[in-house]
Amino acid sequence: MKLIYERSQPGRRAGRLPRYDLPKVELPEHLRRASPPRLPEVAEPELVRHFTALSDRNFGIDTGFYPLGSCTMKHNPRVNERVVSLPGFRDLHPYQEDEGAQGALELMWNLQEILAEVAGLPAVSLQPAAGSQGELTGLMLMRAYFEDRGEGARRDTIITADTAHGTNPASVTMAGFKLEKVETDARGNLDLADLRAKVNERTAGLMLTNPSTLGLFDEGIVEVARIFHDAGALLYYDGANLNAVCGISRPGDMGFDIVHYNLHKTFSQPHGGGGPGGGPVAVRDIVEPFLPSPTVVRDGDAFRLEYDRPKSIGRVRGFGGPFGVFVRSYAFIRSYGPGLKEMSETAVLNANYLLARLKDAYELPYDRHCMHEFVLSARNLKRDHGITALDVAKRLMDFDIHPPTVYFPLVVPEALMIEPTETEPKERLDEFVDVMHGIAGEAAESPEVVKEAPHHRPVRRLDEVRAAKNPVVKYGFEEVTTPA
Ligand SMILES: Cc1ncc(COP(=O)(O)O)c(C=O)c1O
Repeated sequence: MKLIYERSQPGRRAGRLPRYDLPKVELPEHLRRASPPRLPEVAEPELVRHFTALSDRNFGIDTGFYPLGSCTMKHNPRVNERVVSLPGFRDLHPYQEDEGAQGALELMWNLQEILAEVAGLPAVSLQPAAGSQGELTGLMLMRAYFEDRGEGARRDTIITADTAHGTNPASVTMAGFKLEKVETDARGNLDLADLRAKVNERTAGLMLTNPSTLGLFDEGIVEVARIFHDAGALLYYDGANLNAVCGISRPGDMGFDIVHYNLHKTFSQPHGGGGPGGGPVAVRDIVEPFLPSPTVVRDGDAFRLEYDRPKSIGRVRGFGGPFGVFVRSYAFIRSYGPGLKEMSETAVLNANYLLARLKDAYELPYDRHCMHEFVLSARNLKRDHGITALDVAKRLMDFDIHPPTVYFPLVVPEALMIEPTETEPKERLDEFVDVMHGIAGEAAESPEVVKEAPHHRPVRRLDEVRAAKNPVVKYGFEEVTTPA
């Protein structure tokens, strides 16, 4: 496919600006560019064809099956886009005074109430813009809580699981805590003996995903919570996997004190291509005074932003948070209503169906019922035929299937982390199973086909390290003029 610069013809234009009648402004000589910018020159039809052809090459949830573990790539209901485009939401200025933004504030307040119910915790801040920012906010809340109790200097360590998502240790370090990792036991739970040995008077808290990134619900969670609370520490719930448990079990009931939600995963939102996210946090009453300011409060029938929060950690994001994400998530939740539980039940059913049908062809390191996702290992294919998890992932692309998450969590060698989500019908799941079985068969009979995949995509196997370290993101004109 030609680049837009290669389609360029001198003098071609896709539009013409109206002649302006303002006085001409003379720029000082030293600010004027020496030569015109070298922009591509194309007429509108060619321009449209170019970008349409590019967009055709994109893969997304709207084009095919996207079982990217931990990322919850589910269908985004189109009605949400209609709702978020309503002029009253779309055209609202973030500095609009409270009296003129009652509908928006009511929606935010309602969303806070629903999220509090889902988490089983009383207070919510909608501000954080992503799961990872929710994590950082949660850790700042922990710090503020301990400082308020005079324990700030002593409580300097956060414990995470060895299966934790990379953002967990990154947030811990960014928030200025020391990091300690706890091992996973043979059933995929936190190893309680290792945990007991590591929790002490220096521990500020735990940061855990439950179900874990192995797709397993921690069977010892009540005991885990007891160990931390007995040591005076707090528990943080990384809610990236909340899609498995909505309406079924609540982090607050499990013993967690602070929770983040990934609105863009659990409650739908076009994401994955860098779209906006939402990472609200919910907290227990003892942490509530420290929540970011402002929060949305209700006075009788009116709603307002509450700034008078003397112990607050302050703002973590501009304005009230990612408002469009709130509208979509609210519409999503309201369309399920009390049946939100069915969303999670179906997500778990779909994952267990796939697990049951794939565990003979690929290794299953933890042979238990899974939650909304599960982790297989291509270790058997590597040992017997030299085919790796990466080879399997690349071959899937030839069948118009997005690869699952690979090589994560780190505790599983040759990991393939698969999350089908609740919005896939049985036929799609069966197609995926057939393709996965086909690839396992190819690994034995014609491994070179898998090794050299993909065969039918716009590009073949790329040097991913070079692409990441030396990306070529500008057009290579023969001669480059640097402005003086
Ligand atoms: C388990 C887990 N925790 C945290 C995050 C971070 O969430 P976000 O991408 O919204 O920052 C992710 C994202 O994939 C995740 O899977």
